[in-house]
Amino acid sequence: MSKNEKSTNQTNIENDKTLTTRQGHPVTNNQNIRTVGDRGPATLENYDFIEKISHFDREKIPERIVHARGAGAHGYFETYGTVGDEPVSKYTRAKVFQDKGKQTPVFVRFSTVVHGNHSPETVRDPRGFAVKFYTEDGNWDLVGNNLKIFFIRDAMKFPDMIHAFRPDPVTNIQDSERFFDFCANSPESFHMVTFIYSPWGIPANYRMMQGSGVNTYKWVNQDGEAVLVKYHWEPKQGIKNLTMKEAAEIQAENFNHATQDLYDAIERGDYPEWELFVQIMSDDDHPELDFDPLDDTKLWPEDKFPWLPVGKMVLNKNPENYFTEVEQAAFGTGVLVDGLDFSDDKMLQGRTFSYSDTQRYRVGGNYLQVPINEAKKRVATNHEGGQLRHKNDKAPGQNPHVNYEPSILGGLEEAKQTGKEYTPHVKGNLVRESIDRNDNTKQAGETYRQFEDWEKDELINNLIGDLSVCDKRIQDKMIALAEEADEEYGRRLREGLEQADKQGTSKNPLGATNAEQAPKKAVDKGHDADPY
Ligand code: HEM
Repeated sequence: MSKNEKSTNQTNIENDKTLTTRQGHPVTNNQNIRTVGDRGPATLENYDFIEKISHFDREKIPERIVHARGAGAHGYFETYGTVGDEPVSKYTRAKVFQDKGKQTPVFVRFSTVVHGNHSPETVRDPRGFAVKFYTEDGNWDLVGNNLKIFFIRDAMKFPDMIHAFRPDPVTNIQDSERFFDFCANSPESFHMVTFIYSPWGIPANYRMMQGSGVNTYKWVNQDGEAVLVKYHWEPKQGIKNLTMKEAAEIQAENFNHATQDLYDAIERGDYPEWELFVQIMSDDDHPELDFDPLDDTKLWPEDKFPWLPVGKMVLNKNPENYFTEVEQAAFGTGVLVDGLDFSDDKMLQGRTFSYSDTQRYRVGGNYLQVPINEAKKRVATNHEGGQLRHKNDKAPGQNPHVNYEPSILGGLEEAKQTGKEYTPHVKGNLVRESIDRNDNTKQAGETYRQFEDWEKDELINNLIGDLSVCDKRIQDKMIALAEEADEEYGRRLREGLEQADKQGTSKNPLGATNAEQAPKKAVDKGHDADPY
């Protein structure tokens, strides 16, 4: 038999479509359980039925606590080897960015944030933009959003923020009063509210939106010198956002439109591409700026800190199975490689604990052995056990009896430090304080003034719609923030709310004006009133 000819036996195995149990037993009857007579009762020794149904009972894992609804795709990142006009090695030694033209496989998951799996993809919400780079030095995750800033600047506030944005714990209905109650009393959110209530809060789909790391990171070069960086993805397909009316029309037809758009584009070979840019700042406090470079509610002005291209990403393969790849994917801000580092950004540090913590609960302790999360390089650890561990992280030639370090008996050994170690000096009192440069409205005003007229109109109308059903004290706080940001912004919001008050109109969550939709509000009875 020549090398290329397959034995009959092998061909039979390849063509064998026989249904089996998980134990490999052929299933001869997949239609009927075993019963005493054809009318039952059933018997407890129905092993194959009990196995089938009990596996089905466990098909779902907990959905992500945020960003539950998502879509994913595979592709690659290609580095330019430069950052703007300079060699990238001047700023970072991360291998993923060196050697012009080098490609690194990636897996990307896009998502909405607040609502559960299968919620509509037309919601007004940030969109997640998480990228896993399978680099030669192990995995790097860049866990970002479509917008470049965030609602809060301290991780302590994240659970409260998400509770306020989620449906009411009693009615299970999303309630804009709870959203604005939190935001009006967390004025640092005002810049993000300005984006979210504009058309930028409803990207047309996942292909036509930007991405951003949002938090400030560091790049470290071969000499152990660091700079502060922000990452941004720019879609080559262009950017497209929706008005409330357009979103409502799409939602009436298809509440999976963004997942479908991404899947269909890749299936027809129309591969979406993004260019990766960084903004760079020297690694210090920058007292000359009127914002703190570690404050994630602020944009770094492009005229002072230009966007410098470093590479591009192409998505060219759909997942083979949604659950195994998209649902079990686990991204985290702690997943960095040599040459990339954290900044002191408090949000980033809080996030970094949260991701792997939730993934141990959501996917399981051995979530890093799931193929989508595994590094595409040799992994060698002394970790042992845990549920569903199905292989050992051992190096070839390692003494398998030695699962500890240090040892002279052939166990794993520490890697050599390449490049000078980066050892920032940290000094200060332990405090619980906000950063001191905390102007909450200046950049919101700048953003408002940069919007086109139709974007301003949408912003004002959307805010009036959702704020008009809120407690007057919340409205007043939001108007005061808008006035502080920009005279016209504040005036239009005030006038619009006064008019809505006279007309008694309010909006339902999709934006159709409908006074009857307004639930009974605390504004009627006052927050302190006894609900009974
Ligand atoms: C202190 C603030 C934050 C905390 C505690 C936090 C926590 C979490 C948690 C627990 C998850 C679920 C992860 C999983 O189940 O795998 C998640 C997902 C996610 N977060 Fe955050 N987050 C924070 C802020 C942010 C910010 C500022 C961004 C944007 C830069 C962001 C982007 C994402 C994305 C894109 C996902 C979905 C990742 C995926 O597709 O699997 N988060 N976050």
